[in-house]
Amino acid sequence: MKLIESQTLKNLARAYAGECQARVKYEFIEYGARKQGYKALAEAIDKIVYNEFNHARMFYTKIQDASEEPIVNLEVCAGFPFKEKWNLEENLKFGMEDEETEVELYLEFAKVAREEGFKDIAILFENISSIENCHKMLFSELYEQLKNGTMYKRKTAIKWKCSACGYEATAKQAWETCPVCQEKQGAVMLNLESDCKCKC
Ligand SMILES: [Fe+2]
Ligand SMILES: [Fe+2]
Repeated sequence: MKLIESQTLKNLARAYAGECQARVKYEFIEYGARKQGYKALAEAIDKIVYNEFNHARMFYTKIQDASEEPIVNLEVCAGFPFKEKWNLEENLKFGMEDEETEVELYLEFAKVAREEGFKDIAILFENISSIENCHKMLFSELYEQLKNGTMYKRKTAIKWKCSACGYEATAKQAWETCPVCQEKQGAVMLNLESDCKCKC
């Protein structure tokens, strides 16, 4: 089977469209986080944004490689959720849910690609599925920390580090204003368990 005639091509187009909208939605979340002074949180989201750009780029390349001639148009039939309403905590939860959906969807797309004989595309979908799982874990942890008030306050003392000047201190709570560079609390680096658990 030629890729240009396959279901896999349609799935690549759906995945590409999904990555584009995920990227923009996460930029909305990042924008909201920065507005509220959560600089370190915004930087964590920014890394996901860049990942989604690269996922889109890889899917796009596979689509264009399917034909000698440039592919002028592909009809994409897919749902586009409009859940985000500028509430940072809620948006982190939606991000987590959307990533969870993608994890399953890409595994399904990988299965179809394998059945149609496109092993390299199946592997791409599988690899990106596991990356989306890491995104899900990160969104989940950010959501929980914000909701429970543990982003900058813990029951036991831990190490906090200023992302601006590098100042470090061990305490139950991060400083309101960095004693060295005067940056606000939102610039204190996040303490994330998902960074260690994530295998990608
Ligand atoms: Fe992605
Ligand atoms: Fe993702």
